[in-house]
Formats: sequence, C-alpha cells, structure tokens
Amino acid sequence: MSVARDIPRQAVILVGGEGTRLRPITSRVPKPVTPVVERPFVAYILDNLTRHGVERAVFSSGFLAEAIQAVIGDGAAFGLEVSYVVEEEPLGTAGAIANCDAVLDEGSFFVFNGDVLSDVDLSALAATHLEKGGMGTIFLTAVDDPSRYGLVELREDGSVASFLEKPGDWEGTALINAGVYVLEPEVLELIPRRRLFSIERGVFPKLASAGSLYGYVDRGYWRDIGTPDSYLQAHFDILSRQVDTAVAGLLGDQYLYLSPDAEVASSARVVPPCYIGEGVRIGEGARVGPLAVLGGRAVVGEGAVVTEAVAQAEVVIGSYAQVEGSVLVRGASIGAGTQLNGAVLGEGCVIGAGNRLAGGICVYPETELPDNSIQFYEQLRGREGA
Ligand code: GDD
Ligand code: MG
Repeated sequence: MSVARDIPRQAVILVGGEGTRLRPITSRVPKPVTPVVERPFVAYILDNLTRHGVERAVFSSGFLAEAIQAVIGDGAAFGLEVSYVVEEEPLGTAGAIANCDAVLDEGSFFVFNGDVLSDVDLSALAATHLEKGGMGTIFLTAVDDPSRYGLVELREDGSVASFLEKPGDWEGTALINAGVYVLEPEVLELIPRRRLFSIERGVFPKLASAGSLYGYVDRGYWRDIGTPDSYLQAHFDILSRQVDTAVAGLLGDQYLYLSPDAEVASSARVVPPCYIGEGVRIGEGARVGPLAVLGGRAVVGEGAVVTEAVAQAEVVIGSYAQVEGSVLVRGASIGAGTQLNGAVLGEGCVIGAGNRLAGGICVYPETELPDNSIQFYEQLRGREGA
C-alpha cells in the first residue's frame, strides 16, 4: 500500500437513497446500516477510510438519518470523527455533496456512494489525483454488464473522455464509475444549491469535456450491494476473503468464526467458510455451511441444513428445514421441514412448517404463513418455458 503525502483527510458518504431494490432486507433498517456479517454495512467503508488515514467522515443523509446516527454515533467506535448533514428533500448525488459544504474543511475530499463494498487502495487513488492534477478522479472498475452503472471511457493519458450514466443496452465488458471519488473543492461551485442535481449527469460529463476529470483503475474487489442477490454475494465474498475486511481477522486461515459461546451439538457439522455469532445454537445432525452466516442467538434445529445463506440475529430455523441461497432478516422463523431456495424473508416473518418458498420470492416483514400453505414445483416452472 502506497501512502500519498497529501491524501485527503475528509470524506463525504452518500447515504440518502431509499434502498428500495434491497427490500425487504431494508424494510426496517436503512441500507447503510443493514448488517453484513453482523456489522453495519458502512463500517466496511469507514474501515477503509481509517486505514488510509482519513480522520473525518460526513454522512450526507435524508429521512433515515436518525436510524443511521443511532448505529454509527460520533464514529469513535470506528476510529474517526463522524458528523451528519440531513437534507429535507432528496438533493441528488451532487446536491447532497454540495449540502456538506459548510462542514467540509478546505482542500480535497473523498466521496463514497454508501452502498459500495470495496478494498480499493484509497492512497493510490489520491496519488493518481495529485499526479494528474484534475478537478476530480474517479475509481473505475471493469464489469461485464455496465448498463446499470456510469459508463466511463478513458483517453490515453487517463483522462475521462466520456461519462454516460445508465447507458441501457450496452454489450460487453467496460469500465464503470465505482462510486468513489477524490474531488477538489472547486467542483462544489458547479453545483446549484438546494435543488435536485446529479453528479453523474450534471457534473462529470461537464468536467470530462473540460479535460479535468481522471480515472483510476483498481483491480481490487468491488461490489454495489443494491439488490438481495448482491447482498448475499457480498457475504460470500467476505467469508471467502475475496475482499480484505476486518472480518478476515476473525475468520483466520480456517475461514471460520465460531463464537466461543455458540452451542454446536456433537453430531452437527459446521463447514467453512462460515460465521457463527454469539449465543447461536445448532441442533443434532444439522449442517451449517459452506458460506453461511448465523447472527447472534440464531437457532438451527435438529437435522436442518443451512448453506449459502444468511440468517440474521434471532432467526429460528426449524428441525429438518433446508435453507439455501436465501436471506432471513432479523427474528424471522421457519417451521419444521420448510425449504427455502432463493427466498428473502423480512424481519419477524413467521413461516409455518412444510412450506417451500423459492425462485427469488421476497416476503415482507411480519408476514405469517400457516403450515403447509405454499409449495413450489420446478416442473411447472419448466413447463412455462417449453
Ligand atoms: N444524500 C443523498 N441524497 N444521497 C443520495 C441521494 C440523495 O438525493 N440519491 C442517492 N444517494 C446516495 C445513495 O444512498 C447511494 O449511496 C449513492 O448515493 C448512489 O445512489 P444509488 O441510487 O445507489 O445509485 P446507483 O447505484 O444506481 O448508481 C451510482 O452508483 C454506481 C456504482 O454503484 C452511480 O454513481 C453510478 O454512476 C455508479 O456506477
Ligand atoms: Mg447503488
């Protein structure tokens, strides 16, 4: 890791979006503090900032500010100073940055989209910014399908030739805006105050045509946790240590964290990579993992199987139930023999015994489903396509 001399010491974290695509995971808890391997998601962003010497972070948030503040507080637990700027109406990504003007110190600053999991080398990003001398430098990553991102084309000298937000039907691998920037304070002068304004549509294209925007391509890990699929995949990537996070230290070389007070029955199997939280109980003959996270006080009944799945705190999985490729939000429960395959259960759902939920189904918080009331037959799905 290279350490730039003049790395920005401050950052703006954009957390004002509603996170609707991540419901029902975010129905009760805002996306930025939704637990990811039992840590509020933005903790991973704060870790990366402190690792590169950033001392202050400003959360630019909307209506959910209090819920975020309740979890992150003054930032002391994360090793930096956190403050909050709250907008009454959504101001868009640029408006939200400009709204932090009064609390930013002089000099350049980092900006983070609040839903990006990455171990990007911020010192190298800042060093590129200094070397190129532009008004802004964007962290770029290559993806196979750039259609739902900001598509970036570079010139030979590393300057941005074009920035096209959400290009729609674009084919093939391309560099995209990874949602992490270094900006000079002069950029704030390009942003109208107190009205909706997008940095991707209103600022970057303008800086690009002025030759004053640069790209920094980092081959490190990157993912936007905007959908249930990517939320689940982020857990797998943290567990298998594809991204460098604080959880790696807990998992160690065995890729296994087993809280000292978890109770695992003698005939149960825990297969790494796995994270088993505080006070978890796993019954006789059950199998947990690979790629499973059990939050604090979760219970896995006798003979149940939990694999490639996330069960947040206080989830109860009945005996002989099978959970695969699914997310159970805090306090959800499923009865004996119930099967989940690609399902998302919202907070406090009570799903009775003998059900089968699959195929990307999302169940909203507190839903109650009696025993034996929903089945899912692969054959019928197959027939649809025939
Ligand atoms: N304060 C505030 N106010 N924050 C906002 C607002 C707002 O009005 N609108 C969005 N945000 C925050 C969101 O909470 C999120 O953290 C970040 O800004 C980006 O918004 P998203 O809604 O997640 O945008 P996206 O994922 O469709 O696209 C953005 O991210 C991609 C990378 O993940 C763009 O920056 C793309 O260019 C980029 O490729
Ligand atoms: Mg996003």
